[in-house]
This record gives sequence, C-alpha cells and structure tokens, in this order.
Amino acid sequence: MARSALLNVMTQAAMKAGRSLIRDFGEVQNLQVSMKGPADFVSNADRRAEEIVFQELSRVRPDWGFVMEERGTVEGRDPQHRWIVDPLDGTTNFLHGIPMFAVSIALERDGQLVAGVILNPAMDELYTAEKGGGAFLNDRRIRVAARKTLPEALFGTGIPFLGRGDHAGFLYELRQIMGETSGVRRMGAAALDLAYVAAGRLDGFWEEALQPWDVAAGAVLVREAGGFLSGLTGEKFDHMRGDIACGNEFMHKALVDQLKKARAQRRRASAPAAETPAAD
Ligand code: IPD
Ligand code: CA
Ligand code: CA
Repeated sequence: MARSALLNVMTQAAMKAGRSLIRDFGEVQNLQVSMKGPADFVSNADRRAEEIVFQELSRVRPDWGFVMEERGTVEGRDPQHRWIVDPLDGTTNFLHGIPMFAVSIALERDGQLVAGVILNPAMDELYTAEKGGGAFLNDRRIRVAARKTLPEALFGTGIPFLGRGDHAGFLYELRQIMGETSGVRRMGAAALDLAYVAAGRLDGFWEEALQPWDVAAGAVLVREAGGFLSGLTGEKFDHMRGDIACGNEFMHKALVDQLKKARAQRRRASAPAAETPAAD
C-alpha cells in the first residue's frame, strides 16, 4: 500500500521519535534500581521525543502550527493547519517498564481532524489514517469490531488517579459497565486504546477529561475504521474537549446508554433522601 505524502511525513517523525523512546526505555530498566529513580529521566525522554517530532515536522512544513503536550501551542504562519502531538502517551507505563506507550501525531485542517498516526515503538505497531482513506495497522487495513451486544463486548477506559478526575463518578460508570460486559481494560495510553478500537481489539472505549493530544490521532483512526465517537453522554465529539466514548455503531450507542444510566444512578444516590412520613 502506498502511503500519501502527508502520512509519510507524519510516519517518519513518529518513527524517529519512537527510536529515541526505545533507547530511553532500555535505560529505564537500569534506572529503576538507582537511588534517584527514573522520573526525571522519563520527563527528559518525553522532551527529547517531542523535540524530534517538532524539528521533523517543522522542517517539512515550516508554516504549520502545533499543539504539543510539553511545548503548548505554537502559532504557525499558515492559519489553516496545525499538528496535535503527544510525544509520549502512556508515561506511567514507560516509567514502570511496561511496553504500552506511543507517539501520537494528528493533523488539523480548518479545525477538522484530517490525519492521524500512532506508533507503539515497543511492539512495532504503526497505525495510520487519513480522512476518506481508511485506517491501517502496519499497512494492513483495519476495521472496528463487528460485535453487537454488550455481553460479548470488551471495553477500554481510563481510571482517574491521584489528583486527577472524578473518582466517585468513575466508580458509578465502572459498576454499571462491568456488570453488563465481558470485561473492562485499563491500558494506560489513551492513544493506544483508540487505536485498539480502530483495530477491532476493543469494542469501545470511554474516558473523561483527556487532552486534545491524547485523542486527536486516535479519533481519526476510529472514524476511518468505521467507528462512531461522541462525548460521554452522546454529545458531539470535540477533540479540544477531551471527553470521549466510541465503538462501532451498536457498541457506541450501548456504551453511551450505560454511561447515562451511571449518571442517573449517581444523581439518585446524591439526591437528598425524601422525607419519611412521621409515624402516628
Ligand atoms: C495519559 C494516558 C492515560 C490517560 C491519562 C493521560 P500521558 O497520557 O493517555 O491513559 O488515562 O489521562 O493523561 O500523561 O501518559 O501522556
Ligand atoms: Ca497523553
Ligand atoms: Ca504525554
């Protein structure tokens, strides 16, 4: 399969950053045992990867802007195009020596997502998609799974953690969904969760309060693989907002219905108890 010039540019940048991450990932294992621990090293690995993507993409498209996790927003001279980049998605996995992390690069044109590349360099898995052109894993066409019912579904999610997200609200969602499905996975890299939905490995995925760089490339992949995306309760998907629920047509709808039920349960549980009539 011949990749477009645009996807080639994005793939080259992701692969170069991926090689740098793999070198650093090898070091993390040694650093685990050092006194200082690997946290500083990992944030440097993250910055190195971001610098590579920034340099590579700026070299070939000097006028295009960026939204990057570390660098923030960089305005380009071309107001139409900007790259949305997470140089290392799955930082906590990387830090713990777990090979589930990714470089994620998306292109926005006039505010619409038009291309996405996600690379898991530890597993040599490259996911690419361009609007209207389909989605691919290592150049083989991928599609969302065909399963239609909740009991056969495997969903991915992101669990809020120390200092982040709505812990109580998430527990309502999990209680609702784990009771209806084959299982729930927490992979630790939202870009890969979305790539896995596109590849039909997961039937769907939901997570709250993500960032544009966590979801942008994955959203293109899911759409191009035939999937549906929205906010958590079915509102229009907006990659700048970062709440996401997705799956094939059936699973997406079923997931959103479950998430709505979870919200209703939470509301009921936190509503003041109705006054009990006094006994006479
Ligand atoms: C994180 C991962 C994780 C998600 C977090 C993100 P990072 O990104 O995508 O799966 O649950 O909310 O922040 O920090 O590893 O780039
Ligand atoms: Ca991320
Ligand atoms: Ca990151």
